[in-house]
Amino acid sequence: MGVRESFIKHQGQTTPYPLAIDVASAKGMYVTDKSGKTYLDLVAGVSACSVGHCHPSVVKAIQEQAEKYLHVMVYGEFIQDPQLHLAEKLASLLPDSLNCTYFVNSGVEAIEASMKLSKGYTGRSEIISCKNSYHGSTHGALSIMGTETYKRKFRPLLPDCGQITYNDLSSLKNINKNTASVVIEPIQGASGFITPENEFLKAVRERCDEVGALLIFDEIQTCFGRTGNLFGFQTYQVVPDILCMAKGMGGGMSIGSFTTSTEKMHSLRENPILGHITTFGGHPIACAASLATLNELCDTQIIEEVGRKEVLFRKLLVHPKIKEIRGKGLMLAVEFDDAEICRKVVHRGLEKGLITFFFLFTHTAVRLSPPLIISEDEIRKAAQLILEILDE
Ligand SMILES: Cc1ncc(COP(=O)(O)O)c(C=O)c1O
Repeated sequence: MGVRESFIKHQGQTTPYPLAIDVASAKGMYVTDKSGKTYLDLVAGVSACSVGHCHPSVVKAIQEQAEKYLHVMVYGEFIQDPQLHLAEKLASLLPDSLNCTYFVNSGVEAIEASMKLSKGYTGRSEIISCKNSYHGSTHGALSIMGTETYKRKFRPLLPDCGQITYNDLSSLKNINKNTASVVIEPIQGASGFITPENEFLKAVRERCDEVGALLIFDEIQTCFGRTGNLFGFQTYQVVPDILCMAKGMGGGMSIGSFTTSTEKMHSLRENPILGHITTFGGHPIACAASLATLNELCDTQIIEEVGRKEVLFRKLLVHPKIKEIRGKGLMLAVEFDDAEICRKVVHRGLEKGLITFFFLFTHTAVRLSPPLIISEDEIRKAAQLILEILDE
């Protein structure tokens, strides 16, 4: 049986059309397959590999930690330096109201736990999210997903989930005194990098304060520099009550987290105790990798350069077939007339050694979310390849 056939037969799949690059190695901006072909990566494992593949500092941190200890105890019992040092560093970079971080394994776990925290803390049951939002695929996160397509088959889901419309101030009246929390992405990911307009996030913050609901920012894609600031909330100057992170925070390792005040966080450890538990959450290797990633972002110009790189992409990607470029920083959606052009860009891109990818909810845009370390030359090369494909 060929490798591809075996992959299809023996490994769980998420679509019938996987890109199926047979990966041999990945370094910096490039993924190399087993035939020796290299691909310039404009996706970064879907916004995850923020400092590039196998960044030397991240690899070193992983190796050093692997020599000390791996998993030693369920989360939150023992003091483990990688977890504590990462939590301390995050607290030093965040406002005082976000000084306590709980580590999990993935983005969706951060969302699930935040939803629980908000219910427990407020004593209310309703969770509000946005139309066209994506917060993960487990039952709780699916319940607040902003589109019916992926929910229908899996009902019943959580009751008491309401919706507002992103960028529609009039919909904020749906946030009310029964609302435990509003879960919102500073930039909507799955629907094609829709950015907030008209002080929308500020208005959501004000409405939450008015009715006593907690504001949860899903920064699973926007965290760790992607928008040109360390966190997306800094780009839009609205501080949430709970900040969820994942993807880019791991530098290529699996980690997620949610951050709030110590006082709010402690509501998960009382009445009942063990209000949220995880065995492997904040795995020491993942935390060591995350701390190395954070240090790299804080100690270099990487984040400062994100804005300039966005401008260059926008300047170069001009073509009659490109209708619009949306997004902020290095999360950019290139909008075309139809899905066929998107498929062509992705598939011809692969043939030419360029990785781009699709969005979950929109089929007329292609995702560019490269490692933040992409150079100007690599941006030029990528843009030229995309324009060539559009000219074909
Ligand atoms: C905005 C957002 N929230 C939540 C998630 C879920 O994260 P994970 O896949 O790590 O569970 C994702 C993943 O794509 C995401 O983009």
